[in-house]
Order: sequence, then C-alpha cells, then structure tokens
Amino acid sequence: MQAAGIPVRHFDRIDSTNAEARRLAEQGERGPVWLWADEQTGGRGRMGRSWVSEPGNLYATFLFAISADPGIAAQVSFVAALAVHDMVTALQPAAQPSIKWPNDVLIGGAKFCGVLPEVVGANPTRIAIGCGVNVAHAPHGTPYPVTCLGAAIPVESVLQELSLSLSKRLKIWDEGRGFPAIREAWGARALGLGGAVTATVGAKEIHGIFTGLAADGALILTAADGTVSHIHSGEVKFAALEALRRKTQ
Ligand code: BTN
Repeated sequence: MQAAGIPVRHFDRIDSTNAEARRLAEQGERGPVWLWADEQTGGRGRMGRSWVSEPGNLYATFLFAISADPGIAAQVSFVAALAVHDMVTALQPAAQPSIKWPNDVLIGGAKFCGVLPEVVGANPTRIAIGCGVNVAHAPHGTPYPVTCLGAAIPVESVLQELSLSLSKRLKIWDEGRGFPAIREAWGARALGLGGAVTATVGAKEIHGIFTGLAADGALILTAADGTVSHIHSGEVKFAALEALRRKTQ
C-alpha cells in the first residue's frame, strides 16, 4: 500500500516503529517509507517515557534520508508538528488545534498526538519521525490532559492525510533552506508565543516571555530584566495553556 505516494510497510504488532526504522537504516534503507503498526509492545515517547500503543490509534514512523548534516534534524520537529496541525485541520475543520513547543499538537489544551523525531543513520543522514495519534481512544493516567480524534475517523485516513501534509511541509522545509517559512508558520499556530512562560532548567525556574524560536529549535525566553535564555529541553509551563485548560474544563 501507499500513503500519498509513499510506500507503507504495515505490521499487525511490533515493538516500536521508530526502533524498526533504526534497524532498517542500519541495513541501508534510505526511504522514504512509512512503517505503520496497529499495536506497539514497546512504544516510546519523548523524555524517556513510554507510549501506550493499544489498537485503535495510529502508530507510524516516516523514515527518509537527507543530504544535509544531522545538525539540521532538530528542525524536523517543527515540520512534523505543522504537518500534524494540517492533518487535523483537514480532517476536523472545527478542531482549532494549537502547537505546544516543541511539537505537541493539542485540541482544547489536551494532547492528541506525540511526535518523536530521531536521527537513525549516517551517510546519508537518515531521520525517523515517529507519530502517535490518538484516534479511537486516549490513554489513562498521563501527567497531562489528553484527547482523541474520535473512532469515526479510520486510522488509515489519518495516515493518508498525515503523509500528504508531511510531504508538503518537508518540501517547504527543503532540508533547512526553507526553515524561515516553517518557523513563521509554526509561530502562527504556537500556543503562548508572546505570553508568559516558566521553564524548569535543572533545579532552577526561569520566568519570562516566550519571544520566539531559534534556528536550532530552542524556545527563546526573555526575562523581565532583558536576559535572554535559550531553552532546549525540559518542562516549560505556558500561562496561555493553563488558561485554555481552565476554560475547557
Ligand atoms: C511524545 O512523547 O510526545 C512522542 C510520542 C511518539 C510516539 C510514536 S508512536 C510511533 C512511533 N514509535 C514509537 O515507539 N514512538 C513513536
């Protein structure tokens, strides 16, 4: 089968489609190819978390090669988040999704999709973009609010639409040459840009305004005294998100 012209390898059950992408890259696979599983037994999320992967949701990884060096790969997070945003807007025009830095896509302040981009091969650089989309159900016991698209949408339609939107956004990105356009489109959909944020870096909390996105994907935080910090990872709390969640509760 194919999704928007990209070959798809389907698995009834697998440990993790990102792990499979790494194995294939090690064997020389360059893609582009989608790896799609109905169920994962070892689904992985960001920050070392696991990703509950029961049947009914989409678990898919897009594996592809680039000629640019792997340093550019951090930008793919934003390309993928935009593609998920496009996908849900096409499938559910009333959804009004927003993107929470770096790549969570939310509806009404609740997460329905997670993206895990990884560099899985060198010479040429191979990138795996793992996407988990809550279609029929949302997991229980997550440390953040979650939602799903609804069982009325077939999982395969989500993959088809995602493949289409990802191909379009990757073309615009053009291995980094089009990053300014990606950053602008991402910024127009980002939650809390221009608003108050608190970042926890180690044992320290930094308060300020979310003033932009750096070329390496860092969140730019400007404190009241003018100090500029680039946040690369860790917990970031957005005042706009807290307000949105209070409104939708
Ligand atoms: C996140 O924590 O937000 C990222 C979750 C990414 C989950 C997807 S499901 C398909 C692919 N395979 C994995 O093991 N993880 C990603």
